[in-house]
Amino acid sequence: MQVLVVDDNPIAVDMLENTLRRAGYDVVTASSGRAALEILDSGACQLVITDWEMPEMTGLELCRRIRYLSTLNYIYVILLTARHDASDSIEGMTAGADDFIVKPFQPSELVLRVKAGERLLALETRELLIFALAKLAESRDSDTGAHLERVRTYSRIIAEYLLKLPKYRDQVNAEFVRLIYLTSPLHDIGKVAVPDQILLKPGPLTEEEFEVMKTHTTRGAETLDAALKQYPSARFLRMARDIAASHHEWYDGSGYPRGLAGQAVPLSARIVALADAYDALTSKRVYKDAFTHDKARAAVIKGRGTHFDPDVVDAFLANETKFVAVQQTLSDEAPLQTALLQV
Ligand SMILES: [Fe+2]
Ligand SMILES: [Fe+2]
Repeated sequence: MQVLVVDDNPIAVDMLENTLRRAGYDVVTASSGRAALEILDSGACQLVITDWEMPEMTGLELCRRIRYLSTLNYIYVILLTARHDASDSIEGMTAGADDFIVKPFQPSELVLRVKAGERLLALETRELLIFALAKLAESRDSDTGAHLERVRTYSRIIAEYLLKLPKYRDQVNAEFVRLIYLTSPLHDIGKVAVPDQILLKPGPLTEEEFEVMKTHTTRGAETLDAALKQYPSARFLRMARDIAASHHEWYDGSGYPRGLAGQAVPLSARIVALADAYDALTSKRVYKDAFTHDKARAAVIKGRGTHFDPDVVDAFLANETKFVAVQQTLSDEAPLQTALLQV
């Protein structure tokens, strides 16, 4: 990771540079805001440490300008300041700073703050990458639109409801909710391995074709398993794998690919199974019109205990109005900006 240090005082620059280099960072330096902007414009750095008090352009002004740069990636800004009033931090935050370090400070504190910034940037990159990957897999599918956005939002609504139930205290926490939102778009990633003539066939599939279609679950799981081998502790990969593998399993064991039943189906997959099915029902397909919410609701209730986990169905029923709102605001016909709506 390359860090840009901006300070008009050469002694301070030296100190910062040495500390960061010792911690293993590449360092670029600039003695003014203007020089810093030129470096940033080239897209070289994503993390900036800047002094607040500088002649010409202050660190605060630099912050503001950074937020106006049209760089592809987010730039994380740490302000160095001798000020420690709450009003100063508010001013800095308004200008777009991500963090502050009050002078004088220990080198170890500086390194810790830079590490925190690095983590945030890595998270952002990871989330974008996951969604881009899911979109890519979906781009070959004919049923595209805002399907992934809706499925992840429905999944989150269910997970948030389960979070409040004592019964799920051990299984669902805030991280689970965040992860299901992050990873559920990957449920059909294995479809990249399904040939076009099957994936895009407008009519019903033959038995053999359906067998091939079913492999999207195992192929998706295999791909994510390969990534898991590299990063066994990555919880998001584990959940993504569970969802890809088991979102077509049925609660009564009659689903595919493994015929798992009840609790043997990971909870994340039981949630996505309902979210995905509800979305398929309420969306238009080549072979069918979109069901109304009431018709889809009746189908979900019919599947309670057979197709779907009864608790997940109950969570759906308790949040019906939210489901209807998502379906309307993230509808395939709705204007694009509504896709940004968070429910
Ligand atoms: Fe699927
Ligand atoms: Fe789907």
